[in-house]
Amino acid sequence: MRRLLLWMSGNRWMRRNLPRLWFARRAVRKFMPGESAEDALKAAETFKSSGIAVLFTRLGETLTYVGDADEVADAYARLLADAHARGVDAEASVKLTQLGFDFDPERTLSLVRRLADQAAAQEPARTVWLDMEGSAYTDQTIELYERLKETHANVGVCLQAYLKRTYSDVERLLPLAPRVRLVKGAYAEPPEIAYQSRREVDANYLALCVSMLAAKKGGRDLFLGLGTHDVRLIQQVADHAQSIGLDKSVFDVEMLYGIRTDQQKKLQKQGFTVRVLIAYGEAWYPWYMRRLAERPANVVFALRQLLP
Ligand code: FDA
Repeated sequence: MRRLLLWMSGNRWMRRNLPRLWFARRAVRKFMPGESAEDALKAAETFKSSGIAVLFTRLGETLTYVGDADEVADAYARLLADAHARGVDAEASVKLTQLGFDFDPERTLSLVRRLADQAAAQEPARTVWLDMEGSAYTDQTIELYERLKETHANVGVCLQAYLKRTYSDVERLLPLAPRVRLVKGAYAEPPEIAYQSRREVDANYLALCVSMLAAKKGGRDLFLGLGTHDVRLIQQVADHAQSIGLDKSVFDVEMLYGIRTDQQKKLQKQGFTVRVLIAYGEAWYPWYMRRLAERPANVVFALRQLLP
């Protein structure tokens, strides 16, 4: 089921036609408050009272026209400025392919730098995150991150625990005082490069956290974001941190809008710093299909929208 849904996420015909179905449009509301930036901002404001911060992501990947990249970067810039004006603790998480990475990586680099400049100028300074896409982009994303780090402290990168290479990527990035969001990984990757079973992915996730916390304890400047809804794993990381004399403030917990909302509030009350990623935009289809693939029970929810 997971493989089928991930295949559907990349199918062009379905990408064009499924989002037109009314029940699909209704079902996607579970994971995003709406398509406009204003919808995302309003949702962010509702989290303010519970002490939960947000991350914005504008949906869409792989541009067909490079000029659209500027428009995407401008939209992020406006959103960060509006969030700041409304007193919302908001960061941005961008997909490089949506900023023209396939056409002109130098231009992508300068667009991210411009956003990072703006986020750094805010009081307090905010972070701009790079999402991690499929494995065809891992090397280039890490290289671009290294170049960004030469000029900006306030940039972070997402790494995926299902990739066997991630341990060495962490080692490579450690001297740069990285900001790392660790996720399990959302794409279909082959067994030569990625762990396939949940048990292996979870074990690698924990091992990566243990090694990053050890580096932190050893004096490295490193920020860790736990991008997962796996509360058991979050607790294991927190217990390990405590056992080596670090407290919860050394990492954030990051979850997606609409997933385990009860746990987001509970963790915040327990003293964890919680950040919710709010997605918006019209090009939600591939992103939504990856959410279904993570939990095929969501397909039943989507089909239930057919009922009156
Ligand atoms: P897991 O899938 O084991 O789920 C743990 C529990 O969480 C489940 O038992 C269920 O209760 C709940 N849950 C998880 N997914 C759900 C869903 N879709 N619907 C309902 N319940 C669900 N990936 C990537 O490759 N590149 C990236 O840049 C990012 N960025 C990113 C940012 C943030 C803030 C988050 C939270 C996630 C990502 N991801 C990502 C996605 C990530 O790789 C992964 O696919 C999902 O987080 C699901 O895995 P979990 O870690 O939640 O664990």
